[in-house]
Amino acid sequence: MNNSKVLVYTHRGSTGKKPLIPACSFEEATRRAEDLLSQMTLEERISMIGGSNSFYTTGIPRLGIPALYLSDATQGVHIRHELPGQMEKSTAFPSPVCLAASWNTDLAYAYAEAIGEECRAGDIAILLGPGMNIYRIAQNGRSFEYFGEDPFLVSRMIESYVKGMQSTGTIATLKHFLGNNTEYYRRWSNSVMDERAIHEIYTPAFKAGIDAGALALMCSYNQINGEYSAENRPVITGLLREQFGFKWLVMSDWWSIWNPAKAIASGLDLDMPGHTHENFLNDPRIGDVSLKNNAPALLAAGLVSESQINRMVLSILRTIVAAGLLDRPVKDVKFLERFDAHGEIALQCAREGIVLLTNRNAALPLENCGTVMLLGDQIKGIAGGNGAAAVEGFDTVSLRESLTAQFGQALFIGSIDDDEAISSAGAILYHCATCDSEAWDHPFNLPVDTQKNILRCCELNPRTIVIVSAGSGRDMSAWADKAAAIIYNWYPGQYGNIALTEILSGRSNPSGKLPITIERSFTDSPGFGYIPEGEELYSDWPNDMNKSRENYDIIYKEGIFVGYRWYEKRRIAPLFAFGHGLSYTGFTMSDLRLSDTIIGRNQLLTIHFRITNTSSRPGAETAQLYICDCKASVDRPHKELKGFTKTGLEPGQSRELTFTIGGQDLSFWDTARKSWITEPGEFRILIGNSSDNIILEQSFILR
Ligand code: BGC
Repeated sequence: MNNSKVLVYTHRGSTGKKPLIPACSFEEATRRAEDLLSQMTLEERISMIGGSNSFYTTGIPRLGIPALYLSDATQGVHIRHELPGQMEKSTAFPSPVCLAASWNTDLAYAYAEAIGEECRAGDIAILLGPGMNIYRIAQNGRSFEYFGEDPFLVSRMIESYVKGMQSTGTIATLKHFLGNNTEYYRRWSNSVMDERAIHEIYTPAFKAGIDAGALALMCSYNQINGEYSAENRPVITGLLREQFGFKWLVMSDWWSIWNPAKAIASGLDLDMPGHTHENFLNDPRIGDVSLKNNAPALLAAGLVSESQINRMVLSILRTIVAAGLLDRPVKDVKFLERFDAHGEIALQCAREGIVLLTNRNAALPLENCGTVMLLGDQIKGIAGGNGAAAVEGFDTVSLRESLTAQFGQALFIGSIDDDEAISSAGAILYHCATCDSEAWDHPFNLPVDTQKNILRCCELNPRTIVIVSAGSGRDMSAWADKAAAIIYNWYPGQYGNIALTEILSGRSNPSGKLPITIERSFTDSPGFGYIPEGEELYSDWPNDMNKSRENYDIIYKEGIFVGYRWYEKRRIAPLFAFGHGLSYTGFTMSDLRLSDTIIGRNQLLTIHFRITNTSSRPGAETAQLYICDCKASVDRPHKELKGFTKTGLEPGQSRELTFTIGGQDLSFWDTARKSWITEPGEFRILIGNSSDNIILEQSFILR
């Protein structure tokens, strides 16, 4: 790696290269798929509707149909040492929530392109990501795998991600469809969601991924309004295929089918991994529920039809053809040469995604501060998330190593019991790291000792800087106003500690912005109360397969009011607002001008304004455009994000920026008409650098 810094990553890389996916049109893919289907025996067709082992589809060698390797996903390629032929290494990228915090769609493209290239190097045809479930509950164990709380931000990141991934020839899988917003007994939860919330909050990112050309989608573990996702015909056939126009591969999440006949009728194509988990197989209440083992008897009994099986196989084949996988090998070892370039992307993503939450009396950057004492967790390693998302990385740089390289002798590792050393250090860096995972949720609170230690450092040393590595918001209320500075570091990948050190020392200027709201107390959250009364959080895997557990409902009672929409409506001040993030640089925004003050229904509105770096450091700012519908026939949020742009500016530099909005940006989902509608009236344009810091405002009228 050359470590050369750019303020804001802008697309260079493969611009101009023809994306490898789609390799042909839907019609052409259908023709070839039909031809293959017509040559297959019933037995062969049935074999294809389930995986051939945990991470492979079933191939039909006599017809040249390959068995394809599907692999996770979230923060880079998860190498499965138990499987043969694995790559030696893969890059550990920052987690997607950190990527989202960069608010940089070019970076999302590059991040996904890099992972797509590593998939090609590792013979992986289908990446089991990106994940895009909306952040509703801070306790969700998988928030680090997703892109935050706002459907507009998530959608823009996802469409770039899908294009970047598929440009390399690796299929992107949109997951987990739908309503998988907690991991608490995820196989036994029923997400009770209303239609407006589904359309306005929980599906726009899926729709954006579909429109960007994603060739695969994964269902979720939970039920949606009473039916398991992979068995849910209204959701798969109705919503996904008919309303959103998704024409490609739909797979189950691993071991999430209970009723084979329902799953076959739902619009699903592929049962993964294809065999029943032994925990369920040996349970008389469940037994063998794999689609391919059940299909012959279901066909014989007339409970499913051959045309249903054919539809599934056709969809799988069509996807393989459209990805070009009948005509080229998956594996391309030339991508093994690209690891350095991928490391650069991982580092840049951490630089742009790490968020400076507070910085009192310009405690940061640490310039000429004397000694620096390091305390807390993960001093020797890197903080990361677990489960299918786990990625080991290589050449990882620990916090201790990167800080030593920066501060040399001035850095020392201290003991929390050493009051004298804590008080006399030039600065304290307290690192707290969580390890979130799928299959269980985690408490909003940090461990009691961590909280005590941070408070103790803050009392003893006014220059205490707290670094939080976590996949979601955590309770910082007790010390947020006592720490000199707080950095939200997420899980920043194998070079994240380099990026963090650059920020601490002032060699990089932070520019990350929260893609989530961090509440003061979990009781403030729209999701509070999702755990059935009398039950408690658990950790570790066994409960994930707890068969004796009753199903329980999660009522999305807040409807569309998720994230800042909720806190603003309820007038609850969060600890840190959505979109918040500081820089070492000052910026101004000025000269707001709209192209019109009255627009027609099909007219676009252009919004111009100026942004200026008023200080003596280069820096980057993300301008955020929110729109407020001043009066509507339904309850609408105070404001909704409808545009953002991240700009790097040299000292004193000024730039004119432009947003363009149209009817869709003003609309809401009308449950009576079952469509998006706009209502005439007054709207306000709000531009700021955070959802709670609006700097420019102007109204216009929609005729
Ligand atoms: C996860 C999926 C993952 C799959 C395969 C499941 O436990 O929910 O996101 O892709 O395993 O590893």
